[in-house]
Amino acid sequence: MRVTDYDDCWLQYDAVEDPAIRSSYRTRCTHVFASTEGPELGVARDELRTGLGGLLGRDPHLWMHPPRSVDGFLAVGRRERMAVVRAAVDAEEIDALHEEGYIVRSVEWEGKDCIVVTAATDKGMLYGVYHLLRRMAARRPLADVDIVEEPKTEERLVNHWDNPFRASVERGYAGTSIFDWEQLPDLRERYRDYARLLASVGINGIVLNNVNTQKPDRPGANPAVAEMEGWQLLRERNLPKVAAIASVFRRHGIRTYLSVNYAAPILAGDLDTADPLDDDVARWWAEKADEVYDHVSDFGGFLVKADSEGQPGPYDYDRNHAEGANLLGRALEPHGGRVYWRAFVYASHKDRSVQAYDTFEPLDGEFLDNVTVQIKNGPIDFQPREPISSLFGSMPETSVACELQITQEYTGQGVHACYHVPLWKETLDTDTYADGEGTPVKDLLSRREGRGLAGVGNVGEDPNWTGHYLAQSNLYGYGRLAWNPDLDAETITDEWVRQTFGNDPDVVEAVSDILHDSWPAVLDYTTGHLGLMHMMYNQDDVLENHYNPSPGEWPGYHGASEDGIGVDRSEYAEQFHSPLSERYASVEDCPDELLLFFHHLPWDHELDDGTTVVQRLYDNCFEGVEEVRSMRDRWAELDDRVDTARHRHVAERFDEQLAHAKHWRDTMVAYFYDHAGIPDAHGRVPRDD
Ligand code: GCU
Repeated sequence: MRVTDYDDCWLQYDAVEDPAIRSSYRTRCTHVFASTEGPELGVARDELRTGLGGLLGRDPHLWMHPPRSVDGFLAVGRRERMAVVRAAVDAEEIDALHEEGYIVRSVEWEGKDCIVVTAATDKGMLYGVYHLLRRMAARRPLADVDIVEEPKTEERLVNHWDNPFRASVERGYAGTSIFDWEQLPDLRERYRDYARLLASVGINGIVLNNVNTQKPDRPGANPAVAEMEGWQLLRERNLPKVAAIASVFRRHGIRTYLSVNYAAPILAGDLDTADPLDDDVARWWAEKADEVYDHVSDFGGFLVKADSEGQPGPYDYDRNHAEGANLLGRALEPHGGRVYWRAFVYASHKDRSVQAYDTFEPLDGEFLDNVTVQIKNGPIDFQPREPISSLFGSMPETSVACELQITQEYTGQGVHACYHVPLWKETLDTDTYADGEGTPVKDLLSRREGRGLAGVGNVGEDPNWTGHYLAQSNLYGYGRLAWNPDLDAETITDEWVRQTFGNDPDVVEAVSDILHDSWPAVLDYTTGHLGLMHMMYNQDDVLENHYNPSPGEWPGYHGASEDGIGVDRSEYAEQFHSPLSERYASVEDCPDELLLFFHHLPWDHELDDGTTVVQRLYDNCFEGVEEVRSMRDRWAELDDRVDTARHRHVAERFDEQLAHAKHWRDTMVAYFYDHAGIPDAHGRVPRDD
């Protein structure tokens, strides 16, 4: 067993205890005949050594030739190179396979029970190996396995909001950045293990640094952004460091990207403008791109936050966002690179929700092919729940990606359990009606170059990687959903729990239930579950930013007043296709969970079940605390089923979450009562304590 000072997450590979399953696995996987050609296959062999060693309780034998005097073996390689693969898979099947797809199939060959993992590319085979190991970790049978799998999306990125030269992570709750820019190009083993985690769930791109690449010092800047100098990564002296990291990720099928500053020609060059229509600026970017590719031949491209929260952008020169993005697109185009251009643009505008659409929809069709517009799941900012962004389905001529937040900025940070997969499923499954009924967000992200998902990462230097141990499930779930947005949340949960905590049915059931109860609980006590925005503390000088309740701070977002609560966002509703626009615009048809996002309603407005708005808010806040209590108790019952260290860690988090949920409840119900003046029907509000 490898000894590291950090956790293996879902790559635990615990020994199979059931004798029948172990024997079946040993027959087929003790002997491994695996190709050695490309770098990804080296990684696959290493993973098989680690994974099978753990699962089978003994090291596998790795062969360069088909092993003869054995009952069975596992073969990993190309069809043209291995007779056993040819016996299992037709040439046409490989020809038809997506370049990242793979086949895992059992076959009887020369009287032996074999499993083959094959693909059209080495990367496909690496993904196939991870699939096989995942299956074994869940103790699924291998005797009749027949898997043909391809990703549904082309682009599956993790965005790090890591500030290189301070090692801090913006909205990170798991310690400092794992990337040590002072020591690079020296590599750490941890980079490799992180790459393994990402590759195992199919991530194929990583942005190394924060979208905020410069400390903003202008009006409208986001002061929460700590001092950072991410733009400096583009300087020539730092490129060997980028190249070193890229070499690790490349072997795992992952391309490396950088967030860049729009004013880089001024900051990192010696120009006095970054005007996208200026020839010198275009030349600067083209030369910079050449330089980057000299160091990193398969560099993925640039991610840009422009004209938002103090970062510079094309507006500084009266140019639009297509002109801005295309400038970078042209520089990257000769090298096969891509620009991810964020749609999170807002400044002085009467309602932030409508601004992304107003800015980008008119530009549809004007972006170059190698530009992707990266759109947050909702219009505000990763709130516990939002409607989808109205840009989904409104830019048919543009490559779009959906940005999700893996880290829990507004959902309890590193303290509260909050499983984001059901939240993301809701976004991805929402029908945009862009092409008539049946055009869900996920379909707009699928199967075209330049389309896919970007997840804001939650990993840091903490031994468990994610701060809260259960938050590993969000990283895992993000990767699995990015690979296949059609997967249901239950399947993903089951996979993660089994690989992480083993196959004890009681543990699987309890942990799965806890995860699935966690988001509704957070919704209840942080928002009253009727679609309120920004109830969190937003002062910028404290660490608890967006953690503690502070509903009085930004009333414009949730609209609480003496006459009622919620915000009339009919203008936003209009940006959707019919019938979504009418549904959201109508108080009767708008789903309860988004009601106060779209409507300002009297406190005593009656909901469908006859409860008033204020009463529902009270009830949900109280209910949320009980849900946390029940998750905590459920977890406590696992004390002899989960190892002590992990059990204690999560138990402590639940104690803290429960205390904090009560604080949320009490703050929120007092706030609602202060404005509504209507007591709780059950006598709990006002509270006399
Ligand atoms: C939010 C978040 C910031 C982040 C910004 C963004 O405002 O609080 O930390 O920089 O989103 O997504 O760019």
